[in-house]
Amino acid sequence: MIDKKQKIIIANWKMNPISFIEADNLISTIKKGLKKKEDMRIIICPPSIFISKIKKNKSFELGIQNIFWEDKGAYTGEISSKIAKNFGVDYAIIGHSERRKYFKETDEIVNVKMKSVLKNGLSPILCIGETLKEKNQDLASDVIITQLEKAFTDINKSKVLNIIVAYEPIWAIGSGIVPSTDEIMSAVLLIRKIISKLYDRPTAEKVSILYGGSVNSQNALDFVDKTRADGLLIGSVSLNGSEFVRIVNLFG
Ligand code: 13P
Repeated sequence: MIDKKQKIIIANWKMNPISFIEADNLISTIKKGLKKKEDMRIIICPPSIFISKIKKNKSFELGIQNIFWEDKGAYTGEISSKIAKNFGVDYAIIGHSERRKYFKETDEIVNVKMKSVLKNGLSPILCIGETLKEKNQDLASDVIITQLEKAFTDINKSKVLNIIVAYEPIWAIGSGIVPSTDEIMSAVLLIRKIISKLYDRPTAEKVSILYGGSVNSQNALDFVDKTRADGLLIGSVSLNGSEFVRIVNLFG
């Protein structure tokens, strides 16, 4: 179970870097630079082909960027959460907007993946967030509500505290354009309100909610301290080892 008091910083490397030598250098920089902190969780999500060579250790845990919902079988090209678990993976990103966009992942697919991940003892990192068009049409809250309600369908309360929710407005990903801290706080509060409605208030208060989208070492501290978020999901900047370490070391 995830301890609510821990800050969580997640690196989503996406489809980078292109060689294991570069990945290994990145890991070395991270291991060297991170100061050990009891009250923090650092999770690295590399491309899955690197996972067996990157062992979780005292500096960080491992997450996978995507999983298939069945445990095993004739599903060419896929990796299950059961397989990932056997390689020391404890987290799986589910519903990232890039998967929703390029691989047509629906809220229903997100839900079956959530259930598979939880059944196999991993923690889902559930990504939700609106497009720019939806934001401009004042639909951001509706999108957050729908994505959350569908993702949590048929998920038992006993599993909810294993879930990490990441609010990633799609227009902020890789764009350098970021929401105000008030906007992030509103989204965090809305997410807690929905979880409270689906389960109960104490459960909602304990769920870890992160922000993601154009995070860097200049804005990282405010995105947590001024928003009631519990941490960050970082894309491009996490590929710069010293910058990633700088962000982590801002906390705790
Ligand atoms: P950037 O940090 O590159 O904006 O990416 C955010 C993201 O998509 C993390 O999952």
